[in-house]
Amino acid sequence: MELAVSRGFLLPSAEIYNPSGGFYDYGPVGSVLKRRIQDEWRRLFLTEPGFLEIESCTVLPQAVLVASGHVEHFADPVTECTKCKQRFRADHLLEQKTMASWAGKQPVELNAGIVTEGIKCPACKSDLGVVGWANLMFPTSIGAGGDSPAYLRPETAQGIFLDFKRVFIANGAKLPIAIGQVGRSYRNEVSPRQGLIRSREFSQMELEYFFNPSVQKIDGFDKIAGEKVRILPPADGDMKLAVTDASLREAVDKNWFPNEILAYMVYLEDKLYRSLGIAHDKYRFRVMPHDELPHYSKGNVDLEVETSYGFIETSGIAYRTDFDLSQHAKFSKQDLTVFVEEEKKRLIPHVVEPSMGVDRTFWCVLESAYRPAGAGKEWEWFAFPPSIAPYAAGIFPLMRKDGLDDIAQKIVGELRSAGVDVYYAQSGSIGKRYARADEIGVPYCITVDYETKEKANEAGGPTVTIRYRDDGQQERLKISELAEKLLQFVKAGKVRKD
Ligand code: ATP
Ligand code: GLY
Repeated sequence: MELAVSRGFLLPSAEIYNPSGGFYDYGPVGSVLKRRIQDEWRRLFLTEPGFLEIESCTVLPQAVLVASGHVEHFADPVTECTKCKQRFRADHLLEQKTMASWAGKQPVELNAGIVTEGIKCPACKSDLGVVGWANLMFPTSIGAGGDSPAYLRPETAQGIFLDFKRVFIANGAKLPIAIGQVGRSYRNEVSPRQGLIRSREFSQMELEYFFNPSVQKIDGFDKIAGEKVRILPPADGDMKLAVTDASLREAVDKNWFPNEILAYMVYLEDKLYRSLGIAHDKYRFRVMPHDELPHYSKGNVDLEVETSYGFIETSGIAYRTDFDLSQHAKFSKQDLTVFVEEEKKRLIPHVVEPSMGVDRTFWCVLESAYRPAGAGKEWEWFAFPPSIAPYAAGIFPLMRKDGLDDIAQKIVGELRSAGVDVYYAQSGSIGKRYARADEIGVPYCITVDYETKEKANEAGGPTVTIRYRDDGQQERLKISELAEKLLQFVKAGKVRKD
């Protein structure tokens, strides 16, 4: 975290006012890395025909969130210290003490647990108060008179349900159709902690796949059905099962996944995490046991990643049935059915939703790419896959004089017009500039030296050195071939000379 803050990945928001926490800004390199993660998600989740992107509003009228159930149910169990008045998540306190899951338990059970386990206020050791519910949404109001209640959205999904009918009609009026979006969500978490893992303003990448419930299939599944993913199955009776590598087909056949569509979303999430460089044995898809499922769900699978904070959920995939559209149809009194040609009938589509957290994923990318000082370098650095590194290359003149800087700046311009994302740095020794590039995970450093200038008129044109991040090895490349080579290297994920 220290490196992330000092190198401009993350900044505690409003820091100079000693704020209450749960808010992070993304600095210059962090915002690029975040954008690359989001673009990678778009590349995988939104490029197939019928997969569309929208951008909906973040302020929603209260009526929307009454219909979705958030006003009544979107709450966490909270206990307040009788003395210092600090508030805590009751289930989290019990989880820390008992090392078991207390998710989904009612306040009565949590109260009993707190008494039996003898849990006191973590801050001042006084008695804790009775557990109650605290709604997580940020209320606001619309209009100068403030008479129209509203909330900041707690998930991006609701905007997609609200826009569904129009997007469906404008895009051929045929099922299946998938609508996704990337954007901010807000939750007034009781005790934000662990940096980006539980913040109060964060971003989600969500997709709603709308389909006819009598066709629980998805095009292309047969081609990928044999792919294996790491699955944590639900307990079989009293017997806990271990994490296992199973094919998507097997997971559907064993009823771990409710259908091929959810299995396909698992496949896409697995592909995304591989391309972000997160080691395969660091994450698993946990099948939620039936007694943990929300009442409307026919199956949930969480993506859990092992981090320095333990296993954290970075994504939830849910088979939400027709719950959301039916609720909005009922409360808005609008017809949200669609006509299904093959069956000559109108129906409310079912939905499978992969919901991914950008910030938690960002954190996992940072942790998995982090390399401490000592292993080959004297400084800490990040081994990002080149395709998501904040820049493809740093361009450096060896000296800030003798025209080397002019040549380097010309190269920057040429590379940028060829679509290579580069930055320019001229101050500090070349060794320091290499170290700074490693610290933000830049895979290639290009140096313009005296040979570049002196051999400018040689056959084949002048050359520069390229230094590869992971082994620090160098070689010379022709300037005329630089753009093409860098693009090739990024695509191939090359990070060493050989
Ligand atoms: P948790 O139980 O850890 O609070 P959740 O089950 O409430 O998570 P979901 O409601 O399923 O999470 O939200 C979908 C995704 O949004 C999560 O997998 C996570 O990546 C992200 N997310 C949810 N809450 C937060 C938060 N407070 N800070 C950062 N990301 C979040
Ligand atoms: N849309 C799922 C969630 O945010 O909980």
